[in-house]
Amino acid sequence: MSGTIEILVDGAPVRVRPGISVAAALLGLGRTAWRRSPRQDAARGLFCGMGVCFECLVTIDGVPGQRACLARIHPGMRVETG
Ligand code: FES
Repeated sequence: MSGTIEILVDGAPVRVRPGISVAAALLGLGRTAWRRSPRQDAARGLFCGMGVCFECLVTIDGVPGQRACLARIHPGMRVETG
């Protein structure tokens, strides 16, 4: 598809628009929550959207604890949700 780049989300190849955040990509894929809170096992995803709340954590290219709302998509990026 022209104008998109491929990334891996939980091991599955998906095509997304370049330049958007990881959180925007996940939302565009229909993922409104992508991890569980450790204490209450509650669904978590985008909340503040500006890097403050840490609700949107994902693993990017093997590095855990990355804020999906701040990270920009790049070709070949590997995103793992919890
Ligand atoms: S949504 Fe709050 S830090 Fe990402």
